[in-house]
Amino acid sequence: VKPATNNGVLGAQHPVMLAGMGGIAGPRLVAAVADAGGIGTLGLYKAPPTRIAALIREVRSMTSGVFGVNFVPEVLEDSTLGANLEAAIAASDPTVFISFFGLPPSGVANQVTGSGRQLVVQVGTAADARQAIDIGVDVLIVQGTEAGGHLLGTQPTAELLRDVRSLAPGVPVLAAGGISCAADFDRLVQDGPADGVCCGTVFVATAESNAHGTYKDRIVQSAADDTVITEMFEVGWPGRRHRVVNTAQVRDGKIAAASVIARTRIYGSESLIFRYSAAVPTSETVGAIDDMALYCGVSCQSIHEPNARAGDVVRSLIGLRH
Ligand SMILES: Cc1cc2nc3c(=O)[nH]c(=O)nc-3n(C[C@H](O)[C@H](O)[C@H](O)COP(=O)(O)O)c2cc1C
Repeated sequence: VKPATNNGVLGAQHPVMLAGMGGIAGPRLVAAVADAGGIGTLGLYKAPPTRIAALIREVRSMTSGVFGVNFVPEVLEDSTLGANLEAAIAASDPTVFISFFGLPPSGVANQVTGSGRQLVVQVGTAADARQAIDIGVDVLIVQGTEAGGHLLGTQPTAELLRDVRSLAPGVPVLAAGGISCAADFDRLVQDGPADGVCCGTVFVATAESNAHGTYKDRIVQSAADDTVITEMFEVGWPGRRHRVVNTAQVRDGKIAAASVIARTRIYGSESLIFRYSAAVPTSETVGAIDDMALYCGVSCQSIHEPNARAGDVVRSLIGLRH
């Protein structure tokens, strides 16, 4: 499919980005968001080059909309990240942007800008925002502590947004963390300094998401106070705090043995999941789902509809009825 272009952020019709969530934001969800005029992001996490190429081609065969790919530099060796990025660039048309969770090494950033791709970086501090600007970022995502998943900083979204806005007058800034309805969008974009939003949790619960059904149910059932920041799910992604549903497993603390609690398929291969793993439960996971990391932002407060269509979520965020 030939990519379409527009004048908005990253060429999209609506400034609503699907966060590139490893294991969750696959081709179906990315294409649904892009088709609705939003910005899709394919979560590539630790996917190997052949898988990366296949996933990107699959998305482009499904949509002419705007999408990009997401990497998490801190879970990969620099050389692996470089090779994965090269595979992504080779398999995609030049409109496909490259996004990173946290600052990429400068060589990797150069690889992106040198390829003519738009560079998108998610940060959680003003200091990191400044560095992202120095390495030539095209779009900044500013993540506050309301966010689901791993946390890049310690400030709430609106506060950090204010601090970063003045640093980056010419750079579009998307707010991330705790956003799931039109009131959130209006507060930060219509009446606030953001140019758009980047959402994770609200899309985890959609029909097109690859999340396990029980995980989607927990998001819909939870209120903001049912989420908590922990460091518990560190196996595979150590050293970073994350916001999850405050399940019995989380409340109990690390008392059980780190034994196998589930199995799943990751990039086509059978994998075992150990207790305290950072892995998310997907539609292919079988086992103790409630004992796994159920990443969830305070945005769950206004997520009430199980299996909403992702396109309807995009439209409802910007205040359009579907
Ligand atoms: C299940 C889940 C997985 C995530 N995985 C990634 C990831 O692989 N890469 C990334 O850049 N951000 C990831 N994030 C974080 C999002 O980019 C974003 O900061 C967050 O979802 C925003 O808060 P919200 O969940 O309240 O919308 C993830 C978030 C969730 C909920």
